[in-house]
Amino acid sequence: MSARAAAFDPFGGAYQVDPAASLRWSRDEEPVFYSPEIGYWVVTRYEDVKAVFRDNILFSPSIALEKITPVSDEATATLAKYDYAMARTLVNEDEPAHMPRRRVLMDPFTPKELVHHEPMVRRLTREYVDRFVDTGRVDLVDEMLWEVPLTVALHFLGVPEEDMDTMREYSIAHTVNTWGRPAPEEQVAVAEAVGKFWQYAGQVLEKMRQDPSGHGWMPYGIRVQKEQPDVVTDSYLHSMMMAGIVAAHETTANASANAFRLLLENRSVWEEICADPSLISGAVEECLRHSGSVAAWRRLVTADTTIGGVDIPAGSKLLIATSSANRDDRHFEGADDFDIRRENSSDHLTFGFGGHQCLGKNLARMEMQIFLEELTTRLPHLELVPDQEFTYLPNTSFRGPDHVWVQWDPAANPERRNP
Ligand code: HEM
Repeated sequence: MSARAAAFDPFGGAYQVDPAASLRWSRDEEPVFYSPEIGYWVVTRYEDVKAVFRDNILFSPSIALEKITPVSDEATATLAKYDYAMARTLVNEDEPAHMPRRRVLMDPFTPKELVHHEPMVRRLTREYVDRFVDTGRVDLVDEMLWEVPLTVALHFLGVPEEDMDTMREYSIAHTVNTWGRPAPEEQVAVAEAVGKFWQYAGQVLEKMRQDPSGHGWMPYGIRVQKEQPDVVTDSYLHSMMMAGIVAAHETTANASANAFRLLLENRSVWEEICADPSLISGAVEECLRHSGSVAAWRRLVTADTTIGGVDIPAGSKLLIATSSANRDDRHFEGADDFDIRRENSSDHLTFGFGGHQCLGKNLARMEMQIFLEELTTRLPHLELVPDQEFTYLPNTSFRGPDHVWVQWDPAANPERRNP
């Protein structure tokens, strides 16, 4: 084991700030290495990461939602108190159970269904921008990019309006619980929130069962369950009610925060998309590649194999660093450059790849597109507050700045000059 492999710390500063840059040494010198810190093999080159995603039998997704930090006895007892039983959803389900379930639950993600959500996303975005457009300074994360994707996620899932605020409170605990490294004293508090989230998710599901005729992915799942109870099980529905919020919310909120930071740091690119909105969809894709919100995903090796020439025994756990793969010069020319006209941006692996590839990718793209359309139109003179330090929630997989402070001169807002 090299000294760098021994020192790799996915909860530490360099990885949080820029996971791709922090793993450049690995892409160049040791593209598959064992990390004693987490007990995982880390895979960092594009072709290797894609090959792992491609074969979900040899590389099982079953550990995708496993807690990466072992839980203390006290926290386990706390979770048991709430009958916490988070199990298989889609993302961590093996074949042959996964694909039939994915097929019957796909319809709400098709373009013809997603179109119905567009006015809701646009309306919400406008309402949030209305609140701060005349203030001149705002944290985009707190005032818009955290809340709008969460509300969209809850609408998409079909959560009743009256339950939205409570659901909101609990969702971050699940991220820390799954991918974070809470200190021993924090673990019980996190477990309390996760346990409550679990119970509440169950209650919301019960409420939906009373009348499953409504819009949304969960009522849809309840209706499918009536026809195919073996494919869409009770355990699946309860687990998905909880995991679905995180799948749809934090991923998109973080991706949007990364995108605004990157675009505003590259001022000339921001100005280009303000002048020509047809460039926005390419910009969204390049932001997802260059600075995606899923930094790494996980797989379990089910038989002895080799990855990138390294022998990996059955039972090994893999941290597949999508953020690093996306900045691999072997696949993307000048991979560190931010180029919104790059022809192969959409080859990125931020949404995974293969049989489990993100079902919500087009909903996420739509949200990011709308956020950029609205802000480039209404606040083209927006700029980052200088000298701010960007901080990140320490965890292996979800990456986005906690805050993105921006400022502008409200007197120069286009809508004041041309209402
Ligand atoms: C799966 C990323 C938004 C729903 C995944 C996976 C990743 C991912 C990495 C695992 C892929 C694999 O194992 O190959 C993202 C990112 C998003 C995003 C970066 C935002 C920028 C969403 C949204 C939804 C969603 C808005 C809506 C509900 C799902 C579902 C799966 C999934 C259901 C499981 C698919 C399966 O295993 O068959 N996502 N996601 N995601 N995502 Fe997303």
